[in-house]
Amino acid sequence: MPKLTAVDQRLENKLKELYASHIQRTTKIDWSYHNLIPWERGRNFKTDPWHPSQATISPELAVAVETALLTEVNLPWFTAGLTDIFSGSLEVLQDFVRTWTSEEDQHSNILETYLLVTRNIDPDRLHHLRKAVVRGAWTPGEASPFEGMAYTSIQELSTQAFYISVAKKADGEDPVLAHILRTIAKDETLHYAFYREAVKAHLELNPNYVWPLCDVLTNFFMPGHLMPNFHERQLIMSLGANYGIAAYYNNVVDVLVRIWDIKNLHPTYPEAQAALKRLNRYLDRLARVAAAQQRLGTPETARKAAIDLLGYDSTQQDGTEALAG
Ligand SMILES: [Fe+2]
Ligand SMILES: [Fe+2]
Repeated sequence: MPKLTAVDQRLENKLKELYASHIQRTTKIDWSYHNLIPWERGRNFKTDPWHPSQATISPELAVAVETALLTEVNLPWFTAGLTDIFSGSLEVLQDFVRTWTSEEDQHSNILETYLLVTRNIDPDRLHHLRKAVVRGAWTPGEASPFEGMAYTSIQELSTQAFYISVAKKADGEDPVLAHILRTIAKDETLHYAFYREAVKAHLELNPNYVWPLCDVLTNFFMPGHLMPNFHERQLIMSLGANYGIAAYYNNVVDVLVRIWDIKNLHPTYPEAQAALKRLNRYLDRLARVAAAQQRLGTPETARKAAIDLLGYDSTQQDGTEALAG
């Protein structure tokens, strides 16, 4: 049987409805991001150069925010990739990508402004990293329109779960940052909702879509995985900022499997039935890895790795130890 990879044309009206409801919901979002930045903390870098001792948040929280920023700055290539994936497909998907881009465009902007104004990052290092990531030009690669929707559902929900986890960490360190992170998470929730419902509508029409869906779920990598020090970042975030494989399993994969009701689908293609079995094995393995990862390290391991990654010197270590308490 051929794999189902195209968007089902019968869903054009459904996708238009989803897009209209997205637009309606975004009109209620406050885009005055300039009001969220604590400008009163800003100082001139020329007369008052940056030094690690000026940081006000813990190194592991700074790594988490920097990692989010570096993921968001890849936007030109996400847009290029999705435009490619949906080219020749329904116009409403192209419309959604344009709207989505205009919303995502705010995210790296506010994170970078926050980090610079509050001096929670070395500005030189940040700008070099930013340039390197954009130059890296990561795209989702070759994918069909249905796989593109499935991938983006997972990615948007992961991003939302990430922002909410990191916001919880920020609550105890800088409530202004926590509010910024929760504001971004609202956008990610709406993006996730669009793609999640689009995928669900396909599964309802034909459960054999579960075959490409399982392939995407079991091969998923976050888009940032090519950025410098990605593995160290993952370790730091899982131990020091509440976001690791356990959070990914509980807040993303498990949620999607239930919302898409994957375990109760009855595909007729043998390949789709085999894909479901593969998914079950993957879920068992992921649950075991999530449990093991929580026993792996300590918040101190994360702190040390974060100080190293941010380029704070060893004398700074004592100062920053006091920050997060
Ligand atoms: Fe975003
Ligand atoms: Fe998003």
